[in-house]
Amino acid sequence: MLQDNFGRRFYYLRLSITDVCNFRCNYCLPDGYECDHDRDFLSLAEIKRLAAGFASMGTEKIRITGGEPALRKDLPDIIQACKQTNGIKTVAITSNGFKLAEHLPTWVDSGLDALNVSIDSFDPRQFQAITGKDKLDEILSGIDNGLSSGFTNIKINTVLMREYNAHDINSFFNYVKDKPVSLRFIELMQTGDNKDFYQQQHVSGQHIKNQLLANGWLPTIRHKAAGPAEVYAHPDYQGTIGLIMPYAKDFCDTCNRLRVSSLGKLHLCLFADEGLSLKEQLQIDDPLPLQRRIMSLLNDKQATHFLNEGFTGATKHLSMLGG
Ligand code: GTP
Ligand code: 5AD
Ligand code: SF4
Repeated sequence: MLQDNFGRRFYYLRLSITDVCNFRCNYCLPDGYECDHDRDFLSLAEIKRLAAGFASMGTEKIRITGGEPALRKDLPDIIQACKQTNGIKTVAITSNGFKLAEHLPTWVDSGLDALNVSIDSFDPRQFQAITGKDKLDEILSGIDNGLSSGFTNIKINTVLMREYNAHDINSFFNYVKDKPVSLRFIELMQTGDNKDFYQQQHVSGQHIKNQLLANGWLPTIRHKAAGPAEVYAHPDYQGTIGLIMPYAKDFCDTCNRLRVSSLGKLHLCLFADEGLSLKEQLQIDDPLPLQRRIMSLLNDKQATHFLNEGFTGATKHLSMLGG
């Protein structure tokens, strides 16, 4: 089992398979950002070795992220390879949801267990202002198709921003009224690239929490092994609302995840480091060198990301690392 010097256990790997994205969310990628399509992203063979290596050390869940993971044509093969790895129980994806209706059935056939989709507004014009894309209707019908076909393990991610969508909080509550999904508000995080934007737009988690409580949402009991979200339920609503507050004091105490970038670098924290390459160990089928490298690197994992102190680390934007 992978464990750090603070007793935290890591059974969850977030694996970015590309840092290319076809959306331009204003909080994530700055204006004029050009994706680099020629990068040496992990191959399917490397991903298989990586999954097997992590699984042999107790990893049970792999979340495939990007950029936008659906931009890789071999995504179904990647899902299947992760799912068929001994020890991996859950394979999830975080996607911007473009062409979801077309993709989801194939992903589910390949073994997908869970899907997280970003939706930052239910108003098509506002959605386009935030993401740069006029895709809201397609994404919503992709989700509806998934739900009606019985794939209900769907979460929605929303970043509230002061001048864009924060005034519309009721539209997010309304969405989960009759849908069995969890919509989570993620506090806008400062990254290397969005400092001014962060200062103008950040809405504190406490402010969102106050609005939840004022609208009759009640906190649910949080399991120790749960993800980063505090989850709220309401007797009149089928779905739930979650709150991910990386600026909360104790957020990192329950950290249960490690990250590997699409370039094959281990990141001990979303914000910690430039990434520590695993590429060399991924060229051979013997998992031992990979296991040794990961164990030794894990000794350097820090207690927290120090976001509270204005630290943004080496992460310029979350598309680099898939959040
Ligand atoms: P599941 O529990 O698997 O659903 O994971 P999740 O909620 O972490 O998945 P998702 O990819 O939807 O993540 C939502 C967002 O929460 C991420 O993209 C980040 O923005 C934020 N987040 C998740 N994990 C961390 C973390 O360890 N640190 C920080 N600072 N933010 C995180
Ligand atoms: N702050 C908070 N969340 C972010 N995401 C991307 N950039 C940021 C940021 N700066 C979220 C997206 C997506 C997830 C992968 O990461 O909304 O849901
Ligand atoms: Fe938006 Fe996700 Fe793409 Fe970033 S990686 S621009 S959050 S869709």
